[in-house]
Amino acid sequence: MVICVSGGAGYIGSHMVKCLQENGLDAIVIDNLSNGHRSSVDETVPFYQGDVRDRIFLESVFSQHAIQAVIHFAADSLVGESVFEPIKYYQNNVVGALTLLDVMRQFEIKSLIFSSTAATYGEPVSIPILESDPTFPTSPYGESKLVVEKLLKWSDVAYGIKSVILRYFNVAGAHPSGLIGEDHQPETHLIPLILKVALKKAPAIKIYGDDYATPDGTCIRDYIHVMDLAQAHVLALLNLLKTHQSATYNLGNGEGFSVKEVIETARKVTQCPIETQVVARRSGDPSILLASSDKAIRELGWNPQYNRLETIIQSAWAFQQSHPDGFLD
Ligand code: UFG
Repeated sequence: MVICVSGGAGYIGSHMVKCLQENGLDAIVIDNLSNGHRSSVDETVPFYQGDVRDRIFLESVFSQHAIQAVIHFAADSLVGESVFEPIKYYQNNVVGALTLLDVMRQFEIKSLIFSSTAATYGEPVSIPILESDPTFPTSPYGESKLVVEKLLKWSDVAYGIKSVILRYFNVAGAHPSGLIGEDHQPETHLIPLILKVALKKAPAIKIYGDDYATPDGTCIRDYIHVMDLAQAHVLALLNLLKTHQSATYNLGNGEGFSVKEVIETARKVTQCPIETQVVARRSGDPSILLASSDKAIRELGWNPQYNRLETIIQSAWAFQQSHPDGFLD
């Protein structure tokens, strides 16, 4: 069974490819390397450099392998950036998924795992957030993913393409081997940026607003280890191939940490002081995102292994220390 991973050289995609290998499943990777790193994918995995919006490219890859399912990560994923560059997000995320789905339809590939996001919910109506809660995104990023979710619903009805939509909360951490981890250029995510301060590569971590309606005034997020997230994809994929039922699952740990609490935990893990600087709020940020992942635990038998924030930060710290300049490509 061959699984095509789009965006497989990106942060989450590269961990997904490792996880597929660890579960005895064959992967091929497509990635345009706009955000990903070629060296984050094992040499033994077939790799095709190209863009999911490029239909001719997809047709050429799909004609070379008997692909049974696609796991689609290739997308832009920064909440803050999307507010200033909505066209980029609709272009890449919506047109990319649309093209991929159309080529899947052409090649009669009927199973898709879709990388969606907690950003589809916007400001939550209740905590923890359930999959059935209303979706009112507060950023073009969240909206672009929601558009694709709706397209998937209609593609199921019209073409019988079954999909599992996985709405991620805040993904962090690195593979236990320390060989791959998070390396975005430029980095905008909280945990790697905090660790860059610990490594003395930046003077202070900026806290985007301390006037939110939360106990310490900073935003609360639900952090999930990237390998727990990847394992949930494997379970979702196996379940989809067995049941042929489309479904939507939240993936988080159900425990919220404020920006200040994350910084404090990083101080303990790294034993470094980590200076802070409070600045204005970042556009598009909801105050609290906290998942109920009970449905994934119940229906997929998902059993997260690295769900303590300390463990997540420790693994990210091990990667940052061994790769202080990130991947070299
Ligand atoms: N933050 C800071 N300072 C920084 C960076 C971030 O205070 O230098 C804050 C943000 O304002 C936010 C929290 O830390 O409140 C987490 O921010 P990240 O940039 O690490 O992550 P986001 O919550 O913006 O977004 C991430 C993914 C999205 C996904 C979302 C789901 O990037 O793709 O989690 O919760 F949709």
